[in-house]
Amino acid sequence: MATRNESQLQQNDGAEEDATTISRRAHQTISYPAFYARFGKQVEGNMYDKYDNPEGIINMGQAVNRLMEEEVLARLNKGDALTMTARYQYYFCSFGILELRQAVASLLTRHHKPYKAINPDNLIVMNGVTACLDALSHTFCDPDDVVITPTPVYGRIFTDFQDRSRASVVPLVALQEENFELQPQDMEKLILKIKSEGQSVRACVILHPNNPLGCVSSTSYLRSIMEICAQHEIHVIVDEIYAFSIYDKETEFNSVLRMESVPDPLRTHVLWGFSKDFSIPGFRLGVIHSTNPLVLSCLKTVSHYHSSPQLIQHAAATIINDKEWCDSFYIPTSQKRLAEAYHKARQRLEAMGVVVKKSVAGLFLWANMQAFLQPCNADNENALFTALLNGGVIISPGQMLHCSNPGWFRIVFAVTNEELEIGLSRIEAVLCKWKRSVKTNSS
Ligand SMILES: Cc1ncc(COP(=O)(O)O)c(C=O)c1O
Repeated sequence: MATRNESQLQQNDGAEEDATTISRRAHQTISYPAFYARFGKQVEGNMYDKYDNPEGIINMGQAVNRLMEEEVLARLNKGDALTMTARYQYYFCSFGILELRQAVASLLTRHHKPYKAINPDNLIVMNGVTACLDALSHTFCDPDDVVITPTPVYGRIFTDFQDRSRASVVPLVALQEENFELQPQDMEKLILKIKSEGQSVRACVILHPNNPLGCVSSTSYLRSIMEICAQHEIHVIVDEIYAFSIYDKETEFNSVLRMESVPDPLRTHVLWGFSKDFSIPGFRLGVIHSTNPLVLSCLKTVSHYHSSPQLIQHAAATIINDKEWCDSFYIPTSQKRLAEAYHKARQRLEAMGVVVKKSVAGLFLWANMQAFLQPCNADNENALFTALLNGGVIISPGQMLHCSNPGWFRIVFAVTNEELEIGLSRIEAVLCKWKRSVKTNSS
């Protein structure tokens, strides 16, 4: 029997329901847990705005980079990026216009220093990395095939791989007790276990840099994982959507694209997109790099369902082709501002008694609030999340990110300076009150 999503059904306010009007598959789609949907009414239409809604909720939950908003806007509005002409009125290459694929190939070659220049023919452009993940799941998985991903993880990895291709995502659980670090053997053990149960493991998804941990992996670690996957003929999908959001000066980001002689080149695929590093999630632009002709061929066909408007592609190509703006100004300025916001948020949170795990990349930090939860369990994590929401700030509880240890939260610090100040003050006020009520209850 298909599961019915109560919240979706209730939204129809009394309208007659007939479950058979949609497919069983569609029922499954609407049954996926959408964490924030539970708070939709409270959050929707009540977001903070300095002038129109100063009491509104500060959004430190969604991974958006607001620190470069004005600069990106100014560059896009210069005139060479977004001017509509007749050529943008018509159909175009669905897997990405050559201008953008060449621009992305040049950007990745300039910055990642691959052993061989990136070839635009190996790039597929789709409307966001979300679409890329869905398309890769369609390309690699038949229903019930397994995709492995280390957890905690950006929650949509589960949805994007499971929803339409009907694959099944199995977590490779990293624990706080091991500092959320995994050994390559852990991956091998899980693969063998799944295989012994008669299922087929088709892909492994690695987030590099990691969301929510904000760390990067060493090349030797990635190579070990890739070797194990190669032995078992498993595709390795490396999502590098935060590749240009490295804010720790001591950290060198080594893209998988830089690796010479990867263990299984035909099963290695790297993703990147404009949503995070270039602060334009509204553009819906994601890119897949693959050298596998069959994979490219399938993705080109699927791209008909997933293309981004040509004018948007041209605009994105224009800003990254402007090397002086992109390489000398935008990327270093963005990284500098991320570093400042990270340190500020970290210091303030630590002063409140929150333990912050050191991170080096991304738009968020990984915060341990276990000291505030007595007992420390999923229900209390939820209760603290709700108290924070009622206190005017939204952050992401670890359970949304498939974290096995309760009490962790992901906090996005790449908000405007003003929102960072207010958001942190609201967190502080809620934690102070929360501490007092926990003390009263236990005395
Ligand atoms: C690791 C990761 N991959 C993919 C996405 C989705 O990106 P897009 O906006 O390109 O669909 C996100 C967004 O939070 C993300 O954190």
